[in-house]
Amino acid sequence: MSTKSLAKQHSNGKNSTNGNGAPKKARKKITTSIILARKGGKKITSVTAYDYPTAKLVDGAGVDVILVGDSLGMVVLGYPDTTKVTLDDMVHHTRAVSRAKPKALLVADMPFLTFGVSARDTILNAGRLIQEGCAEAVKLEGGVRVKDEIRAVVEGQIPVMGHVGLTPQSVHAFGGFKVQGKTDEGADQVLRDAVAVQEGGAFSLVLEGIPAALGARVTREIDIPTIGIGAGPDCDGQVLVTHDMLGLFRDFTPKFVKRYADVGHMTTEAIDSYCREVREGAFPAEEHCF
Ligand code: KIV
Repeated sequence: MSTKSLAKQHSNGKNSTNGNGAPKKARKKITTSIILARKGGKKITSVTAYDYPTAKLVDGAGVDVILVGDSLGMVVLGYPDTTKVTLDDMVHHTRAVSRAKPKALLVADMPFLTFGVSARDTILNAGRLIQEGCAEAVKLEGGVRVKDEIRAVVEGQIPVMGHVGLTPQSVHAFGGFKVQGKTDEGADQVLRDAVAVQEGGAFSLVLEGIPAALGARVTREIDIPTIGIGAGPDCDGQVLVTHDMLGLFRDFTPKFVKRYADVGHMTTEAIDSYCREVREGAFPAEEHCF
């Protein structure tokens, strides 16, 4: 049997039908204009992916935006926070995700200090994520402080997604992963940041770790879609870290995470069965032998 027919045997052939066995409609490619037009309309769905197989799975589920987040540093690379992630890490993982040729919009995070120093560096670093990583847009953290850099990148023809509120790259400045915008002053700052991101020309904005009422207020007051993570139900969309929602990252689980499956536990059980069967001589069986 050729390698090709072996591969065919292992493919479940489910991609061409929906759950009822009816043929799946070809999905339209999601662009930044489609996301922008979703303001106040159909909710935007987004999850993270950092590799080719995960990108294929989440894209197959019909998500609108795949984010190659720098959460990669914590949930895949084992760092305590996201400040250790490099631009090379992001290029490598974004490129892997892009090979899945997703219909979802592919957005890559700009890591710590690859922006916020100069507009020139920000454009060149964003450019690497587009040229080498094959991303279709970049995301960067911050508001008022990075407005001019957002504008420079957008003028350089690279779409930008903003990110304000609990921006994880500011973990040391915040003194921990702390909910932002809880005081009147804090809430006004989050709103000023959101407006700055919009004025910089971003096509959408992630709101992270803020009270639900503030998420609703920001969503009302700006014209670009908001995508919430721990920002309440009134945002124009939601994003979650795939490793959190599938129970693949278990070191800690933020309050805003809902666990939709326990793939972590299933993985341990499956490997445990494999080890037992190898030890007992039950694997490989006749059907696995040539
Ligand atoms: O890095 C990331 O995954 C993110 C999301 C949490 C929005 O920025």
